[in-house]
Amino acid sequence: MQPSMNVARRLVAVLCALGTFSLASAQTRIVVNADLGKDTISRHIYGHFSEHLGHCIYGGFFVGEANSQVPHTRGIRNDVVQALKRLHIPNLRWPGGCFADTYHWKDGIGPREKRPAIVNTWWGGVTEDNSFGTHEFLDLCEQLGAEPYISGNVGSGTVQELTDWVQYVNFGGTGPMANQRKQNGRMEPWQVRYWGIGNETWGCGGNMTAEYYANIYRLYSTFVSSTWGKSPIFRIASGAGGGDYHWTEVLMRDIPHGLLEGVALHHYSANWGKKGSATRFSEAEYFDTMTRAWHMEELVKGHATIMDRYDPKKKIALVVDEWGGWYDVEPGTNPGFLFQQNTMRDAVLAGLTLNIFNNRCDRVRMANLAQTVNVLQAVVLTDEARMLTTPTYHVMEMYTPHHDAVLLPVSVNSPEYTFDGTSLPSLSVSASRDRSDAVHISLVNIDIHAPREIEVDVRGARFTSVKGRILTSAKIQDHNTFDDPEKVKPQEFKGAKVDGSRVRLEIPAGSVVVLSLK
Ligand code: AHR
Repeated sequence: MQPSMNVARRLVAVLCALGTFSLASAQTRIVVNADLGKDTISRHIYGHFSEHLGHCIYGGFFVGEANSQVPHTRGIRNDVVQALKRLHIPNLRWPGGCFADTYHWKDGIGPREKRPAIVNTWWGGVTEDNSFGTHEFLDLCEQLGAEPYISGNVGSGTVQELTDWVQYVNFGGTGPMANQRKQNGRMEPWQVRYWGIGNETWGCGGNMTAEYYANIYRLYSTFVSSTWGKSPIFRIASGAGGGDYHWTEVLMRDIPHGLLEGVALHHYSANWGKKGSATRFSEAEYFDTMTRAWHMEELVKGHATIMDRYDPKKKIALVVDEWGGWYDVEPGTNPGFLFQQNTMRDAVLAGLTLNIFNNRCDRVRMANLAQTVNVLQAVVLTDEARMLTTPTYHVMEMYTPHHDAVLLPVSVNSPEYTFDGTSLPSLSVSASRDRSDAVHISLVNIDIHAPREIEVDVRGARFTSVKGRILTSAKIQDHNTFDDPEKVKPQEFKGAKVDGSRVRLEIPAGSVVVLSLK
């Protein structure tokens, strides 16, 4: 049965959620241990990624100072900044991705008319005029209130080049790099904390072996040091692609831990052989995406288990600095620009993945959705002067109460979502307690047919009120367009009732719900 044939059923479920009528189904029990919280969900799990790729930077974030059609501040779009500020973006990764290992930062400073034009060999072979460089990126981060995460060039750059970059942005004293920064108009250093030492060094970043890269990492990270700034630096090693556990093993074994604050991991929920349309997909394709999204749980567990062996005190973070869905580009767009639409499927994928990260916040302390604007699983799409927010944006916004809140362990005996003889857990849940003692529970029902009646037992806490928000739509393929930008947006969820420590709700098929209990 195709998802589009279930519209009536899903509409019934939506009406239930909005409190219009109720529908009986078997009850699922969830236990939230409000008295057992110990780890904090770092807000940096909710980070984003912006590469010089397609229209992420140019046209997406940056329109240039001469453009009068789109309101901007020093060339940076005001509408995009305003939308992203509502997500409280904690950090933004830049300039890549694969682009990072071809990027020479000195091309992107000083008067724009003097900056050299280069070719973006990874993404579409287009001319990169370097008008968006270090100052523009750090200005963007300041406008967003986000911490910058700079991905250094190891593949085609030198140790000296990367050391110079650190001095340029972080050193407050007198020295050749700091002096150049001042000449370029910035007196105070920015104090950039997060530095990536190469990207996908097993692939586009240099096709290295783990053993070779571990040595290279030791070299580069020695010079990317806190010496040049006031605050400690956080160095992130280029990590495994998916289930390459050997990679993580070698990095943890061969790199002295005093040089290493984070180890990366990349995982895209993509069927590389046949990615398929972002909007016109079958239930088989949807189920395949969900299978790959759930796989993140196994990957985090596998890499974290290796890290635990070498770092039992969990000092080193697992940084999932690229994740998301990856489909065919929209028809008629440049294949090198990776521009794809974003549906309720992506919202479900995001809710599920963020729950996985929250539940493993003991080790996953940073992550970056790929990518922020106009590329892959974007939260914002632009078309000249127009802008829209995607279903994934709404999930990111609904999950903001989890930022820096205390994780509350959850146990779920999830019913299964079965398709063509294969089953996945249909429910994904995480919970946290914020500073005001409010408890937030995010629930995702990936099953596009069956609503679920749920009883949540919150142990160690009692409540008198519950508020909820839901993101759902009649069809899992539903998405926002420039002509209908609010087709998918959060609504008040009236389907939950609280009685002391018990909460009862019915979650519609294919939906994301966030409850706040006081
Ligand atoms: O996000 C797109 C690309 O995917 C990045 O440039 C690269 O790191 C990954 O392979």
